[in-house]
Amino acid sequence: MSFLAPASLGSFADAYPLSPTMLRHSLMGQPLLSVEALAKAALELPPEYVERRIGNAAKGGEFKMDGSDDANVANVIRSIDTSGNWVMLRFVEQLPAYRELLDRLMDQIGPAIAPSTGPGLTVRGFIFISAPGTLTPFHFDCEYNMLFQIAGDKHFATYHPGPPWLPFDRHEAYYGAGGNMLPWNDAYEAEADVHHLQPGDALFVPYASPHWVKAGAEPSISLSITWQSQWSEAVGNAMHVNPLLRRWGLPTGNMPTWPKAPKWRSLSCRVARKARLL
Ligand SMILES: [Fe+2]
Repeated sequence: MSFLAPASLGSFADAYPLSPTMLRHSLMGQPLLSVEALAKAALELPPEYVERRIGNAAKGGEFKMDGSDDANVANVIRSIDTSGNWVMLRFVEQLPAYRELLDRLMDQIGPAIAPSTGPGLTVRGFIFISAPGTLTPFHFDCEYNMLFQIAGDKHFATYHPGPPWLPFDRHEAYYGAGGNMLPWNDAYEAEADVHHLQPGDALFVPYASPHWVKAGAEPSISLSITWQSQWSEAVGNAMHVNPLLRRWGLPTGNMPTWPKAPKWRSLSCRVARKARLL
């Protein structure tokens, strides 16, 4: 059974990997994505893969962990309409049933992405359970992402993955164990490409595309499948080795635009890692 509408896979393949694209899906009735199944999954995952954060963050503000009480996270999920939280289940592929679901999704996405960037590498799954009105502040993720809206609605705002929205030093610092939050400027509000997601909609988010997300008036459930490509791995390697090259007075170059890959910097990163310089 295909979860993704064949017609939307065609336009996705045409736009991939540089442009955000809306697709249609039929995952809404999937039992693994019900509130009760997610409450159970939260208890099955190792606790470090379950994050509970505040639901009232601001753009450019901190997205703080919420440890204000010792509430059981499964109960926070069950009462997400009133708990005022955002809960993320990270790397759900650790649970075999979710691994199988992600495999089935990647079987459908794979043929659309392979001609451009090759097979999806390092496939991961994330599930977001958000209280009404939750804001996920401005940030970026160094992966390709397809987000499936399962319940509730969301406004998902994307930006081009380059300056001024994604400063080069922030992108580089991420690979040196820096964070992924980004500085906010009120002028960015009008520059957003805002996608309104309802249940049955999916959104492809390009590699490192900055974004903020605002849940609507109902509790929201979304599933993200993320992947890497040879190109994104080469970019990550280049970003990781840049500070070392700079220290040695060697050129570092700019962020390459796909399909141009930073081959020499990626190779020097691998050599530096072998030599334990990184
Ligand atoms: Fe994100």
